[in-house]
Amino acid sequence: MIGNFIYNTPTTLRFGKDAIKDLPGVMARYGKTVLMTYGGGSIKKSGLYDRVKELLSDFDIVELSGIEPNPKYDPSVIDGARLCKETGVDVILSVGGGSVLDCSKAISVCAKYDGEGWDLISGKVKAKAALPIVDIITLAATGSEYDMGCVISNTAINDKRAYLDPLMFPAVSFLDPEYTFSVSKWQTACGTADAINHVLEQFFARPCSIFNDGVMISALRSLMTNVKIALEKPDDYAARSELMYVCSWGCNGILSNGAGYSGWPMHSIEHALSAYFDITHGAGLAIITPRWMKEILSDETVERFVTLGTQLFGFDKALPDNEMADKVIEAFYSFFESTGIPMHLAELGVKAEKIDEMADHILEFDSTNEPWMYAPIGKDALVRILTESM
Ligand code: NZQ
Ligand code: ZN
Repeated sequence: MIGNFIYNTPTTLRFGKDAIKDLPGVMARYGKTVLMTYGGGSIKKSGLYDRVKELLSDFDIVELSGIEPNPKYDPSVIDGARLCKETGVDVILSVGGGSVLDCSKAISVCAKYDGEGWDLISGKVKAKAALPIVDIITLAATGSEYDMGCVISNTAINDKRAYLDPLMFPAVSFLDPEYTFSVSKWQTACGTADAINHVLEQFFARPCSIFNDGVMISALRSLMTNVKIALEKPDDYAARSELMYVCSWGCNGILSNGAGYSGWPMHSIEHALSAYFDITHGAGLAIITPRWMKEILSDETVERFVTLGTQLFGFDKALPDNEMADKVIEAFYSFFESTGIPMHLAELGVKAEKIDEMADHILEFDSTNEPWMYAPIGKDALVRILTESM
């Protein structure tokens, strides 16, 4: 069944080899003073920084660099918003991965707000305006280039917040797969694990439909096949281009229009892990995924596992349902492991003594236990998932 839905993604995608040659014309629509945001230097190594500066030689560019993975409210968002206000920035150009773009999205609303920016990000105050955002995304992972969300860490209170507002849809996103050739094996594996999880968060929902299932299984097949190729051969354009496009669909709803909403429980758990231990988002998700699946497997949910088993992995339809589900869980575990992700949180520096506190934090700030969710999980289940993941 396809239920009621409203779908609107106003972002223009400009995809392909040397798509950024059109950058000056696109930027000129929004003004002359640009806040160019970037991370720790990957764009300087790849030559993208020089290319952008050359293309935008007629613009006034203010730079904000050093945006970290799991972008921080303090200093990055605060500094960016201040720069925008001080220099009269017209448009933000984000050049980098999801963290740079998420930080830029938060800056775009904070720059138009006179109070404390965290009030917006934490949902206390609704934003009324935002600066336009153009981005050049350099890592296939989050889908931030095609959605209205950003995820910002506030280290002072151990909080990592997903913040959504249609004002933060990028106006234009440039996606050139060649700029992902330099992404490390680790980030390639973690980025793909993130995108796989975005699909699974939407696949485990009720109602579902043959159409949505087909689109999502196709997305999973593409991600799982192409990441193996990209890990072997980082400059394989065909593989990198599929990864880039499929990842961009992750979080804007297009995969699950008309389906139920699961509440994205694995993301709620992972955001607490990143908030407490600053781990890489996709790695945390890969580790949690099979443990979460095991926890929510029941007579009611087994049908989702059977559909994945038969349609994604091609397992024998005659297998008993529970056996099929176990094989699916095992298949995801082995797949993530085969991409080089250590499948235990302890290996990422997570400390077991924080599990109880993190479970409380998840229930207080995110919640995984609402009755409308696909498979609500309370504190005991959260503790079991995290303990199993250690
Ligand atoms: O900082 P630089 O030097 O640019 O290096 C980055 C960073 O160290 C590097 N990198 C990026 N592009 C590269 C590259 N290295 C070589 N070549 C390139 N072309 O990769 C490292 C990780 O970058 P980051 O931006 O942190 O990765 P990702 O894109 O996976 O973003 C992760 C963040 O996005 C959030 C996550 O929670 C995490 O904070 N998410 C955002 C979502 C959204 N807005 O819709 C949804 C997701 O579920 C997710 O929560
Ligand atoms: Zn994610």
